[in-house]
Amino acid sequence: MCGIVGYIGEDKALPRIINGLKLLEYRGYDSAGLSFVKDNKVFIEKEIGRIKNLEEKINLDENTNMGIGHTRWATHGEVSKVNSHPHRVGKWTIVHNGIVENYVSIKEKLIKEGYSFQTETDSEIVAGLLDYNYKKEKDILKTISKTIGELTGSYALGIICDDDLNSIYATRCGSPLIVAKDKNGYYLASDVPAILDWTNKYVLLDEDEIVKLTKDNYEVYNKDLVKQKKDIYTFEGSRNAAELNGYEHYMLKEIHESKKVVQDTFNYYVEKNSFKKTMPDFKKYKNIHIVGCGSAYYVGYIAKYLIEEYAHIPVYVEVASEYRYKDNFYDKETLVIIISQSGETADSLAALRKAKEDGIDTLAIVNVVGSSIAREALWTLYIKAGPEIAVATTKAFVAQATLLALLAIKLSNKTELLKEFDIDKELDIVLEKDYKRIAKTIYKHDNVFFIGRLVDYVLCLEGSLKLKETSYINSIAFQAGELKHGTISLIDEGTPVIGVCTKESIIGKTISNLKEVKARHAYVLLVTNEDIEDDFYNQKIVIPKVHDIVQPIVTVIPLQLLAYEVAKLRKCDIDKPRNLAKSVTVE
Ligand code: M6R
Repeated sequence: MCGIVGYIGEDKALPRIINGLKLLEYRGYDSAGLSFVKDNKVFIEKEIGRIKNLEEKINLDENTNMGIGHTRWATHGEVSKVNSHPHRVGKWTIVHNGIVENYVSIKEKLIKEGYSFQTETDSEIVAGLLDYNYKKEKDILKTISKTIGELTGSYALGIICDDDLNSIYATRCGSPLIVAKDKNGYYLASDVPAILDWTNKYVLLDEDEIVKLTKDNYEVYNKDLVKQKKDIYTFEGSRNAAELNGYEHYMLKEIHESKKVVQDTFNYYVEKNSFKKTMPDFKKYKNIHIVGCGSAYYVGYIAKYLIEEYAHIPVYVEVASEYRYKDNFYDKETLVIIISQSGETADSLAALRKAKEDGIDTLAIVNVVGSSIAREALWTLYIKAGPEIAVATTKAFVAQATLLALLAIKLSNKTELLKEFDIDKELDIVLEKDYKRIAKTIYKHDNVFFIGRLVDYVLCLEGSLKLKETSYINSIAFQAGELKHGTISLIDEGTPVIGVCTKESIIGKTISNLKEVKARHAYVLLVTNEDIEDDFYNQKIVIPKVHDIVQPIVTVIPLQLLAYEVAKLRKCDIDKPRNLAKSVTVE
């Protein structure tokens, strides 16, 4: 979603702002803009499309030492230059990430007070409200504090006020924002990668905190304007963790990091085939709710099968955007697990908060250190995936599947299963296969079906999502047994049907369903860990058979790589698919 970068210091600001915005590109955006201060005046530049369009328009060498930049992912109002940020009303210039839910009533109030607005955005009214409140408060910090008290929804704001052109102000609620410092100045950013070219030390702003950055200092206040002491975090990974390192796309690079993320995640929680202290004991819980969005929801479904089969604890899996609005039947014996790569997904964060408000214990399974979900949950277990840049999650899914399998083992006491994680060889085999040949048989189709049963069905859901989001092919996953109850009417001559068959106890049943679609002239692609020789499939991807507890980790990789190759053949923008954002910080 939108990205914010700010810089104030001794160096020229624009190269730093553009650099930071480029490092946040992965978040997804459709326009970019910035404002800077020169000769005591505020200048604004905006362009739709890629950051390079903005870069081409500005003079990077501009004599300015402070500015705020923004990448916009449209929510209110079409993608257009006028709707792009920064927005300026009166003395106030702002960039905004999030959604101001009560913007209509604020806008009406301000219009009555004589304000007029140029854009269709919810963001512009924040600049208007700041200007309006400032006329009464006559103090910048008090004005910001009063203004955020009147906003509902989510926001991270970078702010410049004409009456103090030696400072950048910022605040956040529900959308992330960090502050960093190098030897020549201070930075503001939506996420850590934006500052990694300059420093790996950063401060996380908490909800409703306000920061004032000057070229040689920063001060953080709470909403009552009491100064706060902040912890300094260090980013553990290396800068090149967020670089392509010779790969054509981040998605491909990240899939190829699977072996490392499995090892790193395993080694963080296990030593000499015993759990370390890093893995707490959750045995007191009699039932578990798992909540997430998109792939995080699907990996939660894999965990359901593993925890129920090995630990015999009932697990209910829910989509966060539903869970937050419904009656949930939980009590003191329930553990609510929130899964999120980014740790900032608005719906997942809201689901977490709801469970907490109801007095239920929560566990976050998160990748991004210090993210909101990680900080707010009762327990947090980190996956060790490192920065994930491609919008389509791959290595984080693999790391989540690893950690959740470990959790199932912990809950079941079956520590003898820990030895089953020795799957390097098997991962090498699935990573090195030729998926392009198979992708060629699919990429021209408009509809692709995935079928499987139990855990194989969940892998179908994930494979189908990967295909949809990266290649824009319409694809549906459904439980193989459900075919006859309606969906089979869609099967036609040559329709690609991908059958995932790895769960031994149920393979025979799925094969019968594949035979049914083959009889209706579907093009059947079998993904299996069994030695199946038959005439019901057109192509076959044979993957190594490993223990059930780790089989999903191995099985998902061919589905990810197939989606990648199909997207490549279709010449899609693989790492930044249209309309999508990496971190979905709005509802
Ligand atoms: O950061 P999160 O794990 O909370 O994100 C959840 C989903 O938005 C995410 O998994 C999404 O479905 C991916 N684009 C799928 O590849």
